[in-house]
Amino acid sequence: MIRIKHRIQGRQLLFLVLSILVFCGLIRYAKITNDNTGIKYNDTRGPADTQWHFTEQHGINCLDIYEMDPVALGKSLELRRKVPPTPSDQSIVNRTSDCTQFLVSRGYREVQISEQELDFPLAFSLVVHKDAHMVERLLRAIYAPHNIYCIHYDLKSSSAFTEAMRGLARCLPNVFVASQLEMVQYGGISRLRADLNCLSDLINSKIRWRYAINLCGQDFPLRSNAELVSELKALKGMNMLETVRPSPFKQQRFTNRFKLKDAQSQYLANPVKTAEKKQPPPHNIEIFVGSAYFVLSREFVNFVHWSPQIKDFLAWCDDTYSPDEHFWATLIRIPGVPGEIKRSDPDISDLMSRTRLVKWQYLEGKLYPACTGIHVHSVCIYGAAELRWLLNDGHWFANKFDLKVDPVVIECLERNLTERQRELQHSN
Ligand SMILES: *[C@@H]1O[C@H](CO)[C@@H](O)[C@H](O)[C@H]1NC(C)=O
Ligand SMILES: *[C@@H]1O[C@H](CO)[C@@H](O)[C@H](O)[C@H]1NC(C)=O
Ligand SMILES: *[C@@H]1O[C@H](CO)[C@@H](O)[C@H](O)[C@H]1NC(C)=O
Repeated sequence: MIRIKHRIQGRQLLFLVLSILVFCGLIRYAKITNDNTGIKYNDTRGPADTQWHFTEQHGINCLDIYEMDPVALGKSLELRRKVPPTPSDQSIVNRTSDCTQFLVSRGYREVQISEQELDFPLAFSLVVHKDAHMVERLLRAIYAPHNIYCIHYDLKSSSAFTEAMRGLARCLPNVFVASQLEMVQYGGISRLRADLNCLSDLINSKIRWRYAINLCGQDFPLRSNAELVSELKALKGMNMLETVRPSPFKQQRFTNRFKLKDAQSQYLANPVKTAEKKQPPPHNIEIFVGSAYFVLSREFVNFVHWSPQIKDFLAWCDDTYSPDEHFWATLIRIPGVPGEIKRSDPDISDLMSRTRLVKWQYLEGKLYPACTGIHVHSVCIYGAAELRWLLNDGHWFANKFDLKVDPVVIECLERNLTERQRELQHSN
């Protein structure tokens, strides 16, 4: 009798143990699937939409990519050969023709923000010219309903691209197209003016944003909005950008006049250096160089917008080479500007300024690990094996990404950021 009882208890125990194992397994499974599907978009609108689940559909787990699992990384390399064509600009025109469906399917309405974020709106200037699908993914990655976004598209952009950008602006009330558009010339002042046009619209908008950030179509964020807000608060009104003393090589960009147009008044593909020497800059301004990309406080942007001194300097920059790369770096050193960096202060390099992570081929192996994507003009277009490095380096944004080079790194960044933004909500 006792034996039988023991046997039953034994079975019950076995059952109990098995149940616990299965239960734990389920929880673990649920957790993993949950992590994997941080982005739950309902994309049921044709083959182009497979783009958003490309990684998952091919059995690649972003957590494995993040952990640098060799099998997952190997799979991602194989996958590069199967990348379908990027959805056309027309597909964004189509999707935004039905705004409700667009917002729901892309999860814009699911974006949740904290009180902290609500008190600290951000403004973005997006200077873009092609690949509407990627612009939309960037916008979605940085989107929060209380922020404000200005899109500047190039007057040379295709009509489908233009229409796609207008579609995004129509569907999202806090996204607008710049009121003045430029024909952007490589190396010319029009690139700088594109941002200035956006900043001027942003300053005039009703939203009391605290910082302005400019991005281009091949950038992607490495921080969620909530994380960005807490890092920006820690700046306490200072700006974040690169500003270094110009090398003799860089000085040529503003010691001589550059010609932007030919005799027929057509824009040249590249500005051409002339023999004519330029006068020194007005108001004893001392030139510093840096990147075209910035994180600027509202006070600083306001100052730039209204200062006659800066207007004179902008006019002086008109015939310099790529003034976007010395304008901001110089202004931040002008005595008395909000968040001034003293002229005597040391250089702030692109690795010290956390605005944008760019991997230059000649510094690979010295300052950072080798590129796992491809190089274009000596700049790395990231691959999946850089996911971990990108996320842990401490920068806020990175450049460059391209779906044709490696869609996995982009999708895994999207998933990681969505997950982090969600975790932050839950911990609040
Ligand atoms: C996804 O969207 C389609 C078309 O709008 C709809 O019929 C379907 O029920 C949706 N599915 C889910 C899971 O929301
Ligand atoms: C856009 O919509 C039109 C009309 O519905 C359709 O014929 C076309 O194939 C669509 N194009 C894309 C790229 O989705
Ligand atoms: C996202 O990246 C962070 C590192 O920045 C990492 O700690 C975290 O585990 C990642 N989360 C997911 C869901 O991949």
